[in-house]
Amino acid sequence: MRTVLREFPPMFEHIPPYAGDPILSLNEAFQKDPRPHKVNLSIGLYFDEQGRIPMPASVAEAERRVVARAGSRPYLPMEGAANFRAAVQELLFGGSAALQEKRIATIQGVGSSGGLRVGADFLRAHFPASPIYLSTPTWDNHRAVFEGAGLEVRAYPYYDASTGGLDFAGLLAALEAAPARSVVLLHACCHNPTGVDLSAAQWHELAVLLKRRELLAFLDLAYQGYGDGLQEDLLGVKALLDAGLLFFLANSFSKNMSVYGERCGALSVVCESAEAAERVLGQLKFTIRRNYSNPPTHGGQLVATVLLEADLRAQWEQEVTQMRQRIQSMRRRLHEVLSQKLPGRDFGYFLSQRGMFSYTGLSAEQAERLKTEHAVYILRSGRMCVAGLNEGNVQAVAEAMATVLG
Ligand code: LMR
Repeated sequence: MRTVLREFPPMFEHIPPYAGDPILSLNEAFQKDPRPHKVNLSIGLYFDEQGRIPMPASVAEAERRVVARAGSRPYLPMEGAANFRAAVQELLFGGSAALQEKRIATIQGVGSSGGLRVGADFLRAHFPASPIYLSTPTWDNHRAVFEGAGLEVRAYPYYDASTGGLDFAGLLAALEAAPARSVVLLHACCHNPTGVDLSAAQWHELAVLLKRRELLAFLDLAYQGYGDGLQEDLLGVKALLDAGLLFFLANSFSKNMSVYGERCGALSVVCESAEAAERVLGQLKFTIRRNYSNPPTHGGQLVATVLLEADLRAQWEQEVTQMRQRIQSMRRRLHEVLSQKLPGRDFGYFLSQRGMFSYTGLSAEQAERLKTEHAVYILRSGRMCVAGLNEGNVQAVAEAMATVLG
């Protein structure tokens, strides 16, 4: 008979418990909540009018085509599939001189989080003295990604709580004082968590400053199409291209194609020459090889098929429009009910903020009350995912908010 020794040498005693993630752990808590009327406005997931995560018809048809064509599965190149990379470049940079001159290095990432991390590793290796500036506030994971790669993280003002809008003067003043070659993380559209974006004129002014102060922009584009439209949401990208800036851009298809678990995204670096882009691409490949070797096949082929096959592309563009319009109608409904319930207060920010998130101004304690007393989950920062609302729950959510605010 085998004797199993139950005495183990101590090895992991010093490992602390995980404190949890402000977004993903709350989403896990929501899944375990037995209350049938619970509403998940915590994580950035788009739900349809029936409260389901949709499978867009364009993506479903792309999947049928991809599966019908699929054969053996060799490794993809380190930089990802060529058709995916070309399709992403056309979507983001189509018509630009940078693209025509082959000055853009693009890799297929593992979601845009993967693109952020590959970019962060690249910056740490090749711009070791450069700090990165993040907006206050920003996506809860930005700091962890860049600090995890060894970058020094600094902050620039962004959200003005007194107006529910942008502190543009504060932003400019902080970046004016940043050392040359600092990196500046900017949300290309639909700022997470505030929903507060720059106007065209502000992007232009910022681009001039970035160029004059020799700062390196790193754009995060996770919500393309959820603000004003797929092309309209490239306002910031176009402003930087027009100003002749060199910059990084991590983008995601998680939300606009509803392919969250497929982890589809990319990282692009706009360089000064085709030859520089080749070298940058080589170093990105080196980083990828050391991290995860090469990206997975399936999700990237779904995205490439939707982007490259004309009928699916047209259908997808319509589906993104529908998603955006549904979010906008939920913003209006929330504004309407809250304004009726609390007539003395101004909820106009729900209408002016863009994309799937709104910064409600609720305190951590009020957010906690929403959860425990009303089964409505928003982040402790007060961020709400408006895309989790529908005609069936918006009245109850607004009433619950009015109660905790009142
Ligand atoms: C969010 O901000 O909720 C989403 O981007 C999901 C995530 O990974 O945090």
